[in-house]
Amino acid sequence: MSKLLYITANPKNDIKLSKGMQIGEVFLEEFMAAQPDVEVERWHLYNMDIPDIDMDLLYARAKLSFMGYTKEQLSEAERTKLEKMHELADRFIAADYYVFVTPIWNLGAPSILKKFIDNLFIVEKTFTNTPEGPKGLLTGRKAIHIQTRGGIYSSGPMVDFEFGDRYLRKVFQFLGFESLDTVVAEGMDHFPKQIPEIMAKAKEQAAEAAREMAKGTVTIG
Ligand SMILES: Cc1cc2nc3c(=O)[nH]c(=O)nc-3n(C[C@H](O)[C@H](O)[C@H](O)COP(=O)(O)O)c2cc1C
Repeated sequence: MSKLLYITANPKNDIKLSKGMQIGEVFLEEFMAAQPDVEVERWHLYNMDIPDIDMDLLYARAKLSFMGYTKEQLSEAERTKLEKMHELADRFIAADYYVFVTPIWNLGAPSILKKFIDNLFIVEKTFTNTPEGPKGLLTGRKAIHIQTRGGIYSSGPMVDFEFGDRYLRKVFQFLGFESLDTVVAEGMDHFPKQIPEIMAKAKEQAAEAAREMAKGTVTIG
């Protein structure tokens, strides 16, 4: 059975408070209507125990990669954190479709998303180094990013200042994904009167993206 991982990086715990999550639900509804047999798993990153790359993980990494240690020779804390990291990455890898729902925060994504993604960069698991450079191992996967923004970044003076969606795209391109499409709802804090219009358009785009993803034809937008 195929699996869709629905990942939200937003501390809001009530969908009524989050415009991004409201758009995300439209995506899910439409996707599930088209692909009722796909299992949906929801990950609310703020409710998860995500390892930090701290001193234990740095030591574990160094000991295994160039200090000649075996896994059994790691300290208890190093081994536990490393295992947690690998388990999280394995659970991530086990999906076929991915939906990320994030707001832009201070020009990027909420920092928990970076912490989460730090757990996915594991050499020989999600990417490998070749004489031609690094090569992503997570091939054939499709993702969509639903991003809400208070201001406007698709045109005007802020175009070069958006690092949330751009980061996510580069991460999954690096890791070998086939595509990462984006639905943006922007300008909602700067132009509050236009919220209904902006939301309606984003929901329509999300529904369309869901139908396309369900058909297997999402393209990098
Ligand atoms: C801590 C914080 C930082 C923010 N930084 C930005 C920003 O850099 N650019 C922007 O356009 N909006 C910024 N916003 C506004 C949110 O992106 C915007 O309100 C968005 O619609 C929230 O989506 P949500 O309703 O799904 O939480 C910020 C909001 C917060 C709380």
